[in-house]
Amino acid sequence: MTAPVQTSGTLDDVPTFPVRLFGDPVLRQRSNEVEELDGDLARLVDAMYDTMRDAMGLGLAAPQVGVLKRLYTYDLGDGPAVIVNPEIVESSGEWLYDEGCLSIPGMSFEIVRPKLVTVRGLDLDGDEVVIEGDERMGRLIQHEIDHLDGTLLLDRLEPDVRKQALRELRQAQLDASFPVVVGGPGAAGRL
Ligand code: NI
Repeated sequence: MTAPVQTSGTLDDVPTFPVRLFGDPVLRQRSNEVEELDGDLARLVDAMYDTMRDAMGLGLAAPQVGVLKRLYTYDLGDGPAVIVNPEIVESSGEWLYDEGCLSIPGMSFEIVRPKLVTVRGLDLDGDEVVIEGDERMGRLIQHEIDHLDGTLLLDRLEPDVRKQALRELRQAQLDASFPVVVGGPGAAGRL
């Protein structure tokens, strides 16, 4: 009889990651295409599900946990899911949304982006996934793919709003009031 050396990887027994915060250079790099859909990737995804849930996030991109791979997890209430090597293949319309980011806790910004987007990628079995995302799902897709390209929501702001936001962030970092507590303002749209 051999004792198992590892648990089977249910959602409750994987470690969670600290979420990388604004100022961390990893958030500014472009992530690499995922080449192998293997056990390591599945374990990473399990840990990202836990991390996302603990952070009360709706979405989480791999670079937000320091991993430069093109994938993101999300949960808009139907349970956690993942999309690997996502690509936007269509977008249309315009939609204003109060967008927040787990890497910039406590701040959110009204940003206009396309309302409806279609994303194409892979699931963990390597099967093609196509999702047409309207409104919140559309926003999530765009926000997470931005993370994979090293883009933050601050980059989507009008220049003067962006300047003001960066000033506030730097000041908050200086007086150690950044990051603020989980569940603060902007908690609804944390991507
Ligand atoms: Ni984000």
